Amino acid sequence: MQIQAAVLYEPKTPFIIETVTLDEPRAGEVRVKIAACGVCHSDYHLVSGTTKHPLPVVAGHEGAGIVDTVGAGVTHVQRGDHVVLNWCPACGECYYCQHGQPNLCDTYTTPIWNGTMLDGTSRLSLKGEPVYAYCGLAAFAEYAVVPAPSCIRIRRDIPLTTASLVGCAVATGVGAAIYTSPVQQGESVVVFGCGGVGLNVLQGAALGGATTIIAVDTQPSKEALAREFGATHFLVSSDHVLQDIRDLTGGRGADRSFEAVGLPKLQELAFEAARPGGSVVLAGLSAMGSATNLPGAVITRTEKTIKGSYYGSVDARRDFPLLLDYYLDGTIKLDELVSQHWRLDQINEAFAVMLTGEVARGVIVF
Ligand SMILES: NC(=O)c1ccc[n+]([C@@H]2O[C@H](COP(=O)([O-])OP(=O)(O)OC[C@H]3O[C@@H](n4cnc5c(N)ncnc54)[C@H](O)[C@@H]3O)[C@@H](O)[C@H]2O)c1
Ligand SMILES: [Zn+2]
Ligand SMILES: [Zn+2]
Repeated sequence: MQIQAAVLYEPKTPFIIETVTLDEPRAGEVRVKIAACGVCHSDYHLVSGTTKHPLPVVAGHEGAGIVDTVGAGVTHVQRGDHVVLNWCPACGECYYCQHGQPNLCDTYTTPIWNGTMLDGTSRLSLKGEPVYAYCGLAAFAEYAVVPAPSCIRIRRDIPLTTASLVGCAVATGVGAAIYTSPVQQGESVVVFGCGGVGLNVLQGAALGGATTIIAVDTQPSKEALAREFGATHFLVSSDHVLQDIRDLTGGRGADRSFEAVGLPKLQELAFEAARPGGSVVLAGLSAMGSATNLPGAVITRTEKTIKGSYYGSVDARRDFPLLLDYYLDGTIKLDELVSQHWRLDQINEAFAVMLTGEVARGVIVF
């Protein structure tokens, strides 16, 4: 079929809306009619070139939609099902899937990062040449053919625009605070960056029972949103932010320190902002090839734990429905995350607004 999609040809150029060919789903694949796709900073890393990827590519990995056609052998979803797309499809068979870490499934990791389906080919093409699919999803498009395990069936009483955010920002942020480094009752937490991911770390920390929740952002305008999502204190980035964090945490530093931007210097600051014996979680994605200077001698002497967090360590099949139940019973907020709706042809504007750092999440709505 011919569909409209936002294609990125080269880093540092705009997305171009093209009519591309989408082939039929093969065995183990599903075609989804996309209803909404959030604008996540990880897509922008393709534009800035900090994430390297085969090109041209259709980005978009925070999607939700309705199942249109299932390929041979797909039994867990059927036409008409509402689904949130999972950008860490899991095979269920590999070492990681069998050890409770489906977000690290190594059956899918290589093809997904090469921008293809499991068989190494892409369903997208333009004038006969392959176009790659970011995260195997390519949801900045009217339809997407995705690996079957990327389809997580959800209840039908939640608007797909709202549900789409569970596919990245909510899973990543809430998951970081409840699974990667589970926040405990009465703890102190600091979160660097209050974008789609950081706001969700804040609400995850509140869910875990933290009593001091410090949000840090370069944009003073983020204060109201940060507080709405659970921050008890808000600091604008400055030379004295580390001292301010220590002043708010008995002079020690926070029990848990989360970096949700993806800058090596900020990761180093997040390390310093954790108390001895505390934990540092790297949720932001720094540029491929960049390095963060974390001092070994200090790590040894202070027993700080440094942990990466990929997709909030979630198990999408278990957690997407759970997070949506949490939304419906008022435990977490989703509607307040949606700052603005955009059309697909406004995608470059949507990213420009994201880069101001002043919004929670823009969502492309089809
Ligand atoms: N680990 C994962 O699985 C995962 C998943 C999704 C996104 N990410 C990454 O998380 C990061 C955040 O994504 P997002 O979509 O929330 O981004 P975003 O653009 O929505 O938000 C970034 C926020 O950080 C703030 N900021 C920028 N520089 C800062 C600084 N020096 N100090 C404090 N705050 C600063 C901005 O003002 C903005 O509020 C990105 O690197 C993204 O690629 C990682
Ligand atoms: Zn994302
Ligand atoms: Zn697996």
